[in-house]
Formats: sequence, structure tokens, C-alpha cells
Amino acid sequence: MSRILNYGMVGGGPGAFIGHAHRHSVALDESAKLVAGCFSRDHEKCLRQGEELHLSPDRCYTSYLEMAQKEAAREDGIDFVTVVTPNSSHYEICKAFLEAGIHVACDKPVTVSFAQAQELRDLAREKGLLFMVTYTYTGHVTAKYVGDLVRSGGIGDVRMVMAEYPQGWLAFPENDGGWRSDPAFSGPVNCLGDLGTHVENIIATMTGLKIRRVLAKMDKKVEGHILDDNDSILVEYDTGASGIYWVSQIAVGSDNSLKVRIYGSRGTVLWEQESPEKVTVIDADKTVREIHRGHACVTKHAAGYTRLPAGHPEGWYEAMANLYHSFTACVNAKKDGTFTDDMIDFPTIEDGAHGLAFVEACLKSTENGNTWIPVEA
Ligand SMILES: NC(=O)c1ccc[n+]([C@@H]2O[C@H](COP(=O)([O-])OP(=O)(O)OC[C@H]3O[C@@H](n4cnc5c(N)ncnc54)[C@H](O)[C@@H]3O)[C@@H](O)[C@H]2O)c1
Repeated sequence: MSRILNYGMVGGGPGAFIGHAHRHSVALDESAKLVAGCFSRDHEKCLRQGEELHLSPDRCYTSYLEMAQKEAAREDGIDFVTVVTPNSSHYEICKAFLEAGIHVACDKPVTVSFAQAQELRDLAREKGLLFMVTYTYTGHVTAKYVGDLVRSGGIGDVRMVMAEYPQGWLAFPENDGGWRSDPAFSGPVNCLGDLGTHVENIIATMTGLKIRRVLAKMDKKVEGHILDDNDSILVEYDTGASGIYWVSQIAVGSDNSLKVRIYGSRGTVLWEQESPEKVTVIDADKTVREIHRGHACVTKHAAGYTRLPAGHPEGWYEAMANLYHSFTACVNAKKDGTFTDDMIDFPTIEDGAHGLAFVEACLKSTENGNTWIPVEA
């Protein structure tokens, strides 16, 4: 029997971006209640955030280590933790909660190296714990529909993928990019970790294709940028299909324009995250169909995540909530002993590790003068 879970958060302090969004998304289903947090390394800020969220001060911790240990020891301790700190701290924080026997949801990129991600993957497996990596866009009903269509052969064999994710916020040197531009917090990449891992994951999720090798050209277009701000990547999949990925933070005029075009032997699919209510499908005879979320033309699996009737737009919060919908159902099932692997309908640590393997291959390709580099499994 499903019950309301208790969860905690690391990161998401005053003014933080994604922690706030996670809290709102979890609240959409009321499947879990926030009861503990280490919202900031600054304890005064942590307490302030906790007070705003009506948490008991004794569950607002001075460090993630203290939180992991004390919550694990409580009768009513958290069932899972959400980790929403800058990238370089994910590994040690997630490790601490896994070691304490607590399920983990962590934002992407899950770590700053493939080796760290593999270690977390192995630890989660060894402990029998769930580990979600919140690649938000895969949660959209329409993204799930595209995956169902493409993976079931609805457009024939995939031959070519074009995926782009341009943003424009780092186009000008006066914006220093905050922690994302600092290797100490971001890791060895900026744009590729922030945007490229989303592209890698959504294409893998929608098509089921595995990347065999990449040829990357990673640029630092704006003076003063230490890390990449514009990346062009040729992709070869294990089926022989081809892909082109472009991710950028210097595309003036672009907000958050993740766009996917998948070309198969019998049709084409077009999907854009800024218009997530619809999918365009072009059939072999050139019939153009617009599939709208909320209508019967969406697959039963994808439609199962619909919250509002057609024409009442759903968006980013709902996409994130859909990931938590499956994750919290799985945590509940783990608790009552009814969990089976086929219940997982969210990106996992395995997917997170693939993202880091992709990043490292792109880095190596760039360092080698833009040569083809295999991507580790
Ligand atoms: N899924 C998505 O679409 C998406 C979107 C944005 C950000 N993200 C990811 O979310 C993560 C956070 O990004 P953000 O934009 O929210 O950053 P942010 O700077 O807005 O927030 C980070 C928060 O973490 C806190 N923090 C830092 N180190 C901490 C520690 N050791 N213990 C406790 N708190 C700590 C900071 O005080 C701050 O409150 C990043 O990994 C980023 O890549 C994902």
C-alpha cells in the first residue's frame, strides 16, 4: 500500500534555481513530504530556508554528512534524498546517502567523471537502492510518446538524429556564468555538462540507440571563458545510424531551445521542449500529423502521465513531477517488498553514467584534434 514518503534535500537554499523547482514538482502529486534539509553550506541560510518551508530546526543540518547519519538513525527518517547542489559535490553527497542506506534522486550531470558515476552505480546496486537522475525533459508526456513511437518502429529504422540545445545567456563577457563557468564546481565542462548531457539522454531515451563513437569540437567562444560554451558533435550509433548534436550558451536570442528531429526509414518525428504540448509526425507519404498531449492519439503509457485535459497546457514542472511519480512509486514498492525492475520509468544512475562517458569521449576527441573516439558502455 502506497503511503506519503518523507524526503530531504541537499542544496536548494535561498535563491537557488532547481531545488525550488524540485520541491514544487514533488508537491504536485503529494507523494512525498519534505521533512529535512541541508539547503546551504551556510547554516544560517539553511535554517532560514527550513523556516520558510516549515521544517523543524533540528532537521535543518549543518552538513550533508550529519544529515545522512542522523536521518538514517531516525525511526521516521527520510525515505529518499534529493541532491541539487553544483555538479562537483554530487558524488560525495550521493555516496554519503547511499552508504547510509537512503534512496537518491540527483540532478544532472550526476558526477564530474565517468569513474565517479560508475562507483555510485555500483554502490546503489550493491545496496539495492534506487538512484534517479533528474533529466527533466524525458518526463514530458510528449517525450514519452516519442519514445514509445520510435522504439516500437513507428518511423521505421532510425537513420539520422538532429538534436540541438542552444541558450544565449553566456553570449556576453559581462555575465560570468557563476559556478557553471568555474571548473571547481562545474567539473571539466560547462556547456556539455549543463546541456549536452540532456541531449545525450533524451535521444538515448527516445530512440534506444547506444552511441558507439563521437567526434567533437568544443569551443570557448567568449573571451575569458575557461570552459566550453559551444559544442558541435558528430555521433555514430551502434546500429550505424548517425547524429549531429549542437549545444550552446552563446546563441543570442535562444532561451532554452532543446529541439529534436529523428529521421527514420518510414517517417520523421519533430519535438521541441519549449512547445511540449505537441509532437509532429511526418509519415512516409508526407502526411503531417500533429499529436497533442491529452488526446487519445497519445500512447496509453504516455497518456498515463497526463494531469490536465487537452488544451490546458502542461510544462516543465509536470515533466519533473512525472519523474518523481514513478520514482516515489518505486520507493514505496521497495518499502513494501513489491518492487520489480520493470516499474522504473525514470532516468537512472546507469543513464547518468552514460552521460559522463559521453562527456569524457567528447573531451578526448577535442583534445585529440577532433578525432573519432569510442564511448565507453
Ligand atoms: N534538470 C534540469 O533541467 C536542471 C536545471 C538546472 C540545474 N540543474 C542542475 O541542478 C544542480 C544545481 O543547479 P542550480 O542551478 O539549482 O544551482 P544554484 O546555484 O541555483 O543552487 C545550488 C544550491 O546548492 C547549495 N549548496 C552548494 N553546495 C552545498 C553543500 N555542500 N551542501 C548543501 N548545499 C549546498 C547552494 O547554497 C545553493 O542553494 C546542478 O547540478 C545543475 O546542473 C538541472
